[in-house]
Amino acid sequence: MIEPEPPRYSVVARLLNWTIAAMVFVMLPVGIAMTSEGFQEYGDELFILHKGLGSVLLALVAVRIVSRLVLRAPPAPSHWPPIQRRLAGLSHFGLYLLLVAMTVSGYVRTVGGGFPIELLDTLGIPPLIPEMPETADRMAVIHKFSAYALVGLVGVHVSAAMHSALVEKDGVMSRMWPPFGGGRSRGSGHG
Ligand code: HEM
Ligand code: HEM
Repeated sequence: MIEPEPPRYSVVARLLNWTIAAMVFVMLPVGIAMTSEGFQEYGDELFILHKGLGSVLLALVAVRIVSRLVLRAPPAPSHWPPIQRRLAGLSHFGLYLLLVAMTVSGYVRTVGGGFPIELLDTLGIPPLIPEMPETADRMAVIHKFSAYALVGLVGVHVSAAMHSALVEKDGVMSRMWPPFGGGRSRGSGHG
């Protein structure tokens, strides 16, 4: 008897999880390098890259959140105890919150502080907010705190995903696997 496919995330959610993850893994080291003494020589290029990639992320995070509200997530696997469902839900909410905090604080810190975003200038996209130096300074603090929190929560998230994929082998990873390159569930799905 052929078992039915366990429910999976939408193609949009699966594409965005991996695209956003790859971009965040570039943004973090570039952000740290460009604000450190050792990389002053490449400072301008790193800032231009960070602000440009960050602006694309700002748009992708908005698309991810809107599409998540429209397309909904598959229900948590039925073998998960209630506490695990709750923790998974909370950690996912925290990840969305931190993605918004990082991108919005970065944008306001830059544009509100009167600095350019070269990529947006090239594309002819005007500043969306006026200059607000005091708020921009505060946003720099939020940006830094959120970066630490994001590193911590992504660490927990990736550990949980790897535990599911390698130890539990419960098919949770295949719910989020990219649409290309063989995404069929290798686990039982348990529901
Ligand atoms: C910066 C990096 C990442 C961020 C910000 C992120 C964010 C998220 C968010 C917000 C969700 C919840 C989706 C929803 O229910 O709406 C999610 C789900 C998921 N992510 Fe990530 N993710 C990242 C990296 C990764 C990596 C590296 C892996 C794998 C090693 C991964 C595997 C998964 C899996 C398997 C799910 C589905 C969990 C489930 O079915 O309950 N993510 N991710
Ligand atoms: C998820 C997205 C982002 C991540 C993970 C990220 C990460 C970082 C990190 C780790 C730093 C160094 C810590 C610090 O000094 O604050 C930093 C600094 C910075 N980021 Fe981002 N960033 C993101 C989005 C953005 C965006 C969208 C912009 C602007 C469009 C931006 C602009 C800046 C600026 C201007 C700094 C220097 C802050 C200062 O020295 O006051 N970032 N970022």
